[in-house]
Amino acid sequence: MLLCVFAARIAPHISHTHILMTRPRIYVAHALFEAPRALLAAHCDAEFWPGPGRPTRDELQRAAANADGLVCVLTDRIDEPLLAAAPRLRIVANVAVGYDNLDLAALGRRKIAATNTPGVLDETTADLAWALLLAVTRRVVEADALARSGKWVMWDLDQFCGADVWGKTFGIVGFGRIGQAVARRARGFRMRVIYSSGHRVPAEIERELGAEYRTLDALLAESDFISLHVPLNDSTRHMISAPQFAAMKPTAYIINTSRGPVIDEAALIAALAAGRIAGAALDVYEREPEIPDGLRRPNVVMTPHIGSASIETRTKMATIAVENVIEFFAGRRPPTILNPEVLS
Ligand code: DGY
Repeated sequence: MLLCVFAARIAPHISHTHILMTRPRIYVAHALFEAPRALLAAHCDAEFWPGPGRPTRDELQRAAANADGLVCVLTDRIDEPLLAAAPRLRIVANVAVGYDNLDLAALGRRKIAATNTPGVLDETTADLAWALLLAVTRRVVEADALARSGKWVMWDLDQFCGADVWGKTFGIVGFGRIGQAVARRARGFRMRVIYSSGHRVPAEIERELGAEYRTLDALLAESDFISLHVPLNDSTRHMISAPQFAAMKPTAYIINTSRGPVIDEAALIAALAAGRIAGAALDVYEREPEIPDGLRRPNVVMTPHIGSASIETRTKMATIAVENVIEFFAGRRPPTILNPEVLS
């Protein structure tokens, strides 16, 4: 009761349907990291998935059935059937900036708050996009394999000749926080940066980043390297498919650290097999964790969805998710709520 009165004083604008008399029960579908784990446990009755691995769909659904809040990761599908089996659920906190695993419409219908973790992973993800770009163009993975094989015979003039990165044209598709962080790094490589996006960014940002706006078609035709930084939704699913690969230079490389289904993987495999493009560097795939054999080629560098995987960033992401839950049950607005309309 005290908690309700307290919350009513500090947050009179927020509906109190989610303020509980007892400590809220939170199911966390991951062990998280020590600091966010301790933070959540200090405020809520938290149950953590003990591992190893991840809960199955059935295990998640069973655990969510008795929970007031759920902390999940991007491989957990939060959809109508799961929500129907979780009548107490008031908030779902996704430990990811992307939220294509959440059915926001279903959450909204049930007045369940949903949150994500924007802002803390931009630089880390941009670093990985650059790591992939440099790895694929300079053939780092192939060269590493030879170096560690014990079979390197001698230096040779034409050994592992890749493509220069510096001074080339870098096309960035999607120019939000992550796309801009990728562009910022391009200045050090004295590159020409072009971008395409749903909307042009303000002129001062274009100036600061030395970036010029292009339509997607123009960007595909002009770029030596194309890096994708769009969210996955109906308008971006398969936005890079056969016609887009056909529009690229045969010397172009594509880098994807966004979401796998933004690229039509079958079309990418066909483009690589036909030599339509020079190579690809991928962190994400259409049907993770499946990686089709057609991508296992020397001119493809692959990582298993690790864009934000630095210990600093992943800890921050988990902390934001936990803070959203704590704020919500204290009657305050979760800082990174996706559907604020459910609070009214
Ligand atoms: C996200 O946050 O959406 C990334 O894909 C994982 O960090």
